[in-house]
Amino acid sequence: MAAPIIYPQTNPKATEQLNIVSGNGVYVYDDKGKRYLEGMSGLWSASLGYGNEELIQAANDQLHKLSFAPLFGGKTHEPAMQLSHALAEIVPIKNAKFFFGNSGSDANDTILKILRYYNHVEGRPEKKKIISRHRGYHGVTMSSTCLTGLPALHQNFNLPIEELGILHTDCPHYYREQQKGETEEQFCERLINNIKRLIEKEGAETIAAFIAEPISGAGGVVVPPRGYFDKLQPLLAANDIMLIADEVITGFGRTGQAFGCNTFDIKPQLLTLAKAMSASYLPISASVVSDEIYQALVEPANEVGVFGHGYTYSGHPVCAAVASKTLEIYKRDNLFGYAHYCGEYFQQQLNKLAPLDTIGEVRGKGMIAALEVVSDKDKRTPAPDIAGKIANACLEHGLLVRQIYGNTIALCPPLVITYAQVDELVDKLKRSILMVIRGR
Ligand SMILES: Cc1ncc(COP(=O)(O)O)c(C=O)c1O
Repeated sequence: MAAPIIYPQTNPKATEQLNIVSGNGVYVYDDKGKRYLEGMSGLWSASLGYGNEELIQAANDQLHKLSFAPLFGGKTHEPAMQLSHALAEIVPIKNAKFFFGNSGSDANDTILKILRYYNHVEGRPEKKKIISRHRGYHGVTMSSTCLTGLPALHQNFNLPIEELGILHTDCPHYYREQQKGETEEQFCERLINNIKRLIEKEGAETIAAFIAEPISGAGGVVVPPRGYFDKLQPLLAANDIMLIADEVITGFGRTGQAFGCNTFDIKPQLLTLAKAMSASYLPISASVVSDEIYQALVEPANEVGVFGHGYTYSGHPVCAAVASKTLEIYKRDNLFGYAHYCGEYFQQQLNKLAPLDTIGEVRGKGMIAALEVVSDKDKRTPAPDIAGKIANACLEHGLLVRQIYGNTIALCPPLVITYAQVDELVDKLKRSILMVIRGR
C-alpha cells in the first residue's frame, strides 16, 4: 500500500517508482541494492555527493552543542553569524546582508517582500511589479510560483499573478525560440527590445525588479545567448529596475565559477541562494540584498520596531553549521576551480552525443547540462515520449537523470565527480539513447 504522502512534483497516479535507501560518493542505492550514478545531484543540489563525513560530523557536533536557537528579537548564535561572514566573502554583492530561510522558494518570496518594503520606505509603493521569464523556475510558494514561468505549475492553482504584478517576458533559448534566419545576436537584440517595450508599456516607475536564473534549470537548462546579460543590465539600470539573480541552482561552482553571476558578468542587487549552500545535507537558503536595500529595513525601526518577517528556522544553527562546513570544503578543495576544468571535460564528452539521431541540442556550462530530444532534427520537433524512454533506459543502466520541460534530459552531477565517473555517466547515457533509438 502506498504511503499516505502527497508527493511533490509527482503524477499522483505514478508514485513510489523508486525507493532510494542509501548513498555514497556520487552513487545512490535503491531498496533492491541496485547502484545508480546520481547524474542530477538529487535535485541539482547534492554538490558534495553522499556520505561526506565532515558534513555529518559538523551536524553532529552542532546538534550536541546547541540543537536550536532562534534569531528573533535580538538574539543570535555563532553558526549563523559565521555563515553570514563566510558568504559575504564570496557573493557577487559588496557589503551584502543575508536573510536566512529554509528553501529556494521561501528565499524568493522573502526577496519580493523585501523589495516591496524597500520601495514603500523609499516613498514609491507603486514600484512593485517584477519581470520574470517564461520557463524560469523560482519555486512554488504562492508568490514564487507566480514568478515561475512554467505553465504546468500554474494549472488549476488560480494564482494571483496579476494581483502580485508579475510580468513574464521571453525565454532566452536561441535553439527553440529563434525566428527563421535570425542570428544569435539578432535573437538577443529582439528579446532585449521586447523587455524595453514591456518596461515602456507598464511604466518603469511601477517595476521593482527583473528576476533571472543565470542559467535556467528546471525550465530546460537554458543557457542565455551571448551578450544577453550585457545588454539587459544597462537597460534595467537606465530604468531604475533592480536585478535579482536566482542562483539556487547556479550558485557555488555549478557553472565553473563561484556563481553564475561571475560566469555571465552579472552584477545583481539581490541574490537567492539555497541547495548547494549546504550541499543538500540540511535545508537552508539565503535571500541576499545590497547594503542600500538593507538600510531601508533599518530606517523605519524607530517607527515600526521590528522588521516583521522571519521563520522559526531562519538561520537554524545545525543547518548553518553544515553550510559553513560546506563553504569551507569548497574553498579548501578548490572545488569551483575543479568544476571549471572537469566541467569543460563534461561538456566536451556530452557534445560527442550531439550527432546521435534524436539529439537536437546539447547545451550547458560547467557541471550543468541538458540534451534536447527531438523526433526530427531539421524540424526540431520536440519528442517528450522519446525523452521519457531515454530517462527510463538510463534508470535501467544505473544512471539517474531528469526529464524536464517535456523533451529535455537534464544532467547536474555532484561537483566531486571524477573524470572517470564523467566517462561512466556519458557512456551510460549513450547506451541508453542507443537502446531507445534501436528500439530495445
Ligand atoms: C532556480 C531555482 N529557484 C528556486 C527554486 C526553489 O527552491 P526550493 O525547491 O528549495 O524551494 C529552485 C528549485 O529547484 C530553483 O531551481
